[in-house]
Amino acid sequence: MLPCSSRGDSNGHSTSPATITTTTTTTSQSLSHRERRKVRRLSRDASSADGAADAERDAPPCTDFDVAYFQSYSHLGIHEEMIKDHVRTDTYRNAIFKYKHLIAGKVVVDVGCGTGILSIFCAQAGAKRVYAVDASDIAVQANEVINANNLSDTVKVLHGRVEDVEIDEEVDIIISEWMGYMLLYESMLGSVITARDRWLKPGGLILPSHATLYMAPVTNPDRYSQSIDFWRNVYGIDMSAMVPLAKQCAFEEPSVETISGENVLTWPHVVKHVDCYTVTLTELETAETKFRLHSMMRAPLHGFAFWFDVEFGGPADLPTSNGDLSSDNNNCKNGGQRKRRTNPSEGLVLSTAPEDPPTHWQQTLIYFYEPIEVEQDQLIEGSVTLTQSKENRRFMNIHLEYTSGGRTLVKESVMR
Ligand SMILES: C[S@@+](CC[C@H](N)C(=O)[O-])C[C@H]1O[C@@H](n2cnc3c(N)ncnc32)[C@H](O)[C@@H]1O
Repeated sequence: MLPCSSRGDSNGHSTSPATITTTTTTTSQSLSHRERRKVRRLSRDASSADGAADAERDAPPCTDFDVAYFQSYSHLGIHEEMIKDHVRTDTYRNAIFKYKHLIAGKVVVDVGCGTGILSIFCAQAGAKRVYAVDASDIAVQANEVINANNLSDTVKVLHGRVEDVEIDEEVDIIISEWMGYMLLYESMLGSVITARDRWLKPGGLILPSHATLYMAPVTNPDRYSQSIDFWRNVYGIDMSAMVPLAKQCAFEEPSVETISGENVLTWPHVVKHVDCYTVTLTELETAETKFRLHSMMRAPLHGFAFWFDVEFGGPADLPTSNGDLSSDNNNCKNGGQRKRRTNPSEGLVLSTAPEDPPTHWQQTLIYFYEPIEVEQDQLIEGSVTLTQSKENRRFMNIHLEYTSGGRTLVKESVMR
């Protein structure tokens, strides 16, 4: 399959930084027949997790799941949705131009270039050379876009995995839009780490530089009513017998939807804080945190919401003067539960919080099967553990334990 076989020269794919691979695309035809439930949700149709290790380097094997993942990114719609997410795309462009003085005349690698939009922004900011890497067949279109904009002297499209392609120089800047739902779903950050460890010069810049995953208990009576109470009276008929099935269908899996700040019952809790300059692959395998939160109002507690923000701080060894944001100023190592919520006015932040303008990431909700009535100031405590799925490291297992008002419950779910 294309993305996996794009290692080295063995299959005719060039690894020369100066050349795009132009192998005929096959992915659209071979993509799963199943309708994708959500844009940016991963294909579930890969059934095995084999794949030979790269003999030349210790690149991780490209599994069938990875192939399906890259195929999902060969579709136009997913890129259209991302580009039309102006909160996302404008923040990246603003970040690139904020650091124009660091980008001009320098070498950039764009990890997962998609249509090439961030690479082009970097070229516009004066980059000397941009390596635009993508394992999906969208790289073919990216190359055409770059040619059509007369940028082929600056932007070199490499069609292959970051783990496999060769770049014969160190780079000054890594840019990547790698965030999945609940931040870590998709596990693409690992590829940014790989790029960092392969090519980034000491003192180089990573955009974004930091990321934080938050959670908070939520009330959402409208959603509960639409999905569950609806069955209690359907055209005057009591269909309550459907309620157990409705709960299972509506609430078994994490739900990606938009809520507002009014749904949120407490201050947010930091589940995981990531410093992209230092985080390791092992640290991304699991995130575990305990929380103790107090409800700000009396309301039915329907579940927990998760969201994230990313910060575009300066290079790791630059002081925070000069307008740069360093988020390690708030004592948030090791999961960073004490990290306060990033203040967008302090620096360049892309936020997916319920109170901020909506993005295509929305928020991720873990609903309980039964709501719990909580009083104002009532303690809601528990723990959450997020683990990369052993079945497919791009899936995420979510183990949530919570206690409130004397009731303790456990909810296991998988983001797939
Ligand atoms: C979220 S999209 C971002 C696309 C583009 N940068 C943008 O901002 O519109 C992520 C892209 O990264 C690519 N990708 C993910 N992991 C990769 C890897 N290990 N090597 C190369 N490309 C990868 C995907 O194929 C996808 O096109």
